[in-house]
Amino acid sequence: MGRAKITIVGAGNVGATTAHWCAAAELGDIVLLDIPATKNMPAGKALDLMQASPIVGFDSNIVGSTDYADTANSDVVVITAGIPRKPGMSRDDLLATNAKIVASVSEQIKSTSPNAVVIVVSNPLDAMVQQCLVSTGFPKARVLGQAGVLDTARYRTFLAMELGVSVEDVSALLMGGHGDTMVPMPSCTTIGGIPVRRLLSEDKLEAIVDRTRKGGAEIVGLLETGSAYYAPAAATTQMVEAIVKDKKRLLPAAAYCDKEYGVGGFYVGVPVILGAGGVEKIIELELDAQEQADFQKSVDAVKGLVETMTKLMAG
Ligand code: LAC
Repeated sequence: MGRAKITIVGAGNVGATTAHWCAAAELGDIVLLDIPATKNMPAGKALDLMQASPIVGFDSNIVGSTDYADTANSDVVVITAGIPRKPGMSRDDLLATNAKIVASVSEQIKSTSPNAVVIVVSNPLDAMVQQCLVSTGFPKARVLGQAGVLDTARYRTFLAMELGVSVEDVSALLMGGHGDTMVPMPSCTTIGGIPVRRLLSEDKLEAIVDRTRKGGAEIVGLLETGSAYYAPAAATTQMVEAIVKDKKRLLPAAAYCDKEYGVGGFYVGVPVILGAGGVEKIIELELDAQEQADFQKSVDAVKGLVETMTKLMAG
């Protein structure tokens, strides 16, 4: 059996770091594609990463390209392309610009890698996945978004820091969109099998939930010149691994929910089984009244974003 072929669109910090971790984990051969101002930048990053392979010890062909022909027949495509918000730009500016970029990338993927599972990472995430679904016309199971693994990782990190335990012993779930309204789920959070509420006061837990919701902004505030990329790339790599190794991981991801949770045809973060087929199953949990209200608020925020995007794309 040959190696999996993984294409990463966007050779910026998130894309290049995802390539780095996918290579180090020997997940397959990698094509790093971008349309940069300096035309040979993707080739440079790819060759540099290849040259780390004898030291780190991985066998992976890594190619940098500006030509979608090189990405043909990928098993997994990761879309990180898009611009970050600059001073003076409105959220709608970002939405319109990135929706056009994601639409154009998706159309290329549709013809070059018709059987790929596509993981969208570009922001605003939940709307960008929807655009990718529309532009590829792929089955819903093969178009999903990365955010839940990242947001859950932040939540798990903060819990481990607070409790002084290994991050490996913190298991958690988070639902909803990738925005301020995301819903960390203390009822689905355990520390070494112990429900978190038996170890942490409600006040401390609430503070961690709040910090998690603002986790992306906290990094932007510290960096000043960009947004997070190590944790987003690590999260994306875990999803790529689940697909290329058909691991059937139970992870939160932005999946297309219609009847599920009564969402009505939008992408939103929910627990899924992730394997070779992409989203192989959406796990439907019974939510308590507060969780349901919080989740619905998040779904409504996603709907607003998608409606604005649809208008912008039509206009
Ligand atoms: C974050 C942004 C990049 O959460 O979505 O860090």
